[in-house]
Amino acid sequence: MSVNYAGILWNRQKKRYDTVIAIGILSYLALFIGLHAWLHPNITTETLIIRATGTLAFLMLHIILSIGPLARLNPVFLPLLYNRRHLGVSLFIIASVHGLFNILQFHAGGNANPLVSVLTAGSRFPGPIYFPFQPLGLLALVIFFFMAATSHDFWLKNLTPRIWKSVHMLIYMAYALIVLHVVLGVIQLEKSPVLIGFMGLGMLLIIGLHLAAGWQAWRTDYKPITIDTTGWIRVGPLQEIRNNRAKIVQAGDETIAIFRYDGKLSAVSNVCRHQNGPLGEGKIIDGCITCPWHGYQYRPEDGCSPPPFPEKVETYELALSGSDVWVNPAPLPEGTYVEPIRY
Ligand code: HEM
Ligand code: HEM
Ligand code: FES
Repeated sequence: MSVNYAGILWNRQKKRYDTVIAIGILSYLALFIGLHAWLHPNITTETLIIRATGTLAFLMLHIILSIGPLARLNPVFLPLLYNRRHLGVSLFIIASVHGLFNILQFHAGGNANPLVSVLTAGSRFPGPIYFPFQPLGLLALVIFFFMAATSHDFWLKNLTPRIWKSVHMLIYMAYALIVLHVVLGVIQLEKSPVLIGFMGLGMLLIIGLHLAAGWQAWRTDYKPITIDTTGWIRVGPLQEIRNNRAKIVQAGDETIAIFRYDGKLSAVSNVCRHQNGPLGEGKIIDGCITCPWHGYQYRPEDGCSPPPFPEKVETYELALSGSDVWVNPAPLPEGTYVEPIRY
């Protein structure tokens, strides 16, 4: 990671991102509350807050789930990925307001503990349609809590990126829980089916985006063309690699990024130490490979971040035969210097 990049651009980017999130949230709430108060003058403030925050949290969940595949399909969306965690934490706060007001409105007035009341709500009714929908919302909220609570890089380092990512994949379970929460809730409370219509469109959008991103990755990702008798992989003609950019090849479970810069070639692991971002989709800035996700930087020849940063990635040996670039897929230990190939 570079000193000036981390010190200046990173913070400015964060502030701008957070301002956009805050303006978006306030605009949605003002619009929703204004419109509903006008259309339904007898609605209570509590119900307005419950509905505005419930639908907003659901909308934010769709946006969060779309960012990953969108950024893969088109780099224009990469800035949205930089601080997706801020969007996640904001979602948790909005969803908590919805949950809290529901608990105050429907579960705090009786003799039972309000949480017990949420967990048993609806279960006294017969038939599948009366499946209790509120515990589903509570369970999703607990998942959002764990994601928000472990959101700092401190937890990423302590839990290891692998476990941390597994925790994050629970977002899809939370999404399924919320879909059921809304469908069963709307059916039981005999609400307008418009919400279910929007939800169907949202599901199609999310599934479609994930399929499109998966298809693109499968088509373009990194299939080795030739492997010679010693196990080296043919990367392809030098001309295929743009200056200050990389070509990515797959070597078993590993992906390798081969960078071309200043008349030289170097190869490093494609996996960023920060949050597994795709280094080969980044570019060389100030002589360093710069991760497209959050700007961590690595020197191409030894895979080390410039001082004082400690991150290191594996490096690989390269060879040039005519204009063909070849890579040895056996990774060298993180931070190993490899003399760049000159052409
Ligand atoms: C403690 C957790 C939760 C409880 C007790 C709860 C309870 C409820 C209740 C009682 C309703 C019907 C309200 C009405 O009469 O309009 C509702 C609706 C809804 N909930 Fe939740 N919920 C919880 C968590 C969540 C979460 C985490 C989300 C989304 C991220 C969510 C999204 C929605 C949506 C979109 C609706 C339909 C719109 C509305 O009528 O408010 N809920 N929820
Ligand atoms: C309630 C809070 C959060 C929500 C709702 C959320 C949402 C998501 C989603 C939807 C994914 C997986 C799908 C995809 O790649 O598009 C994901 C993965 C990820 N999230 Fe979060 N997130 C939250 C908190 C955080 C925090 C706090 C961080 C930062 C420390 C973070 C960083 C990441 C990373 C690095 C991935 C893996 C990306 C990948 O390899 O594709 N998230 N998160
Ligand atoms: S800088 Fe965050 S994943 Fe690379």
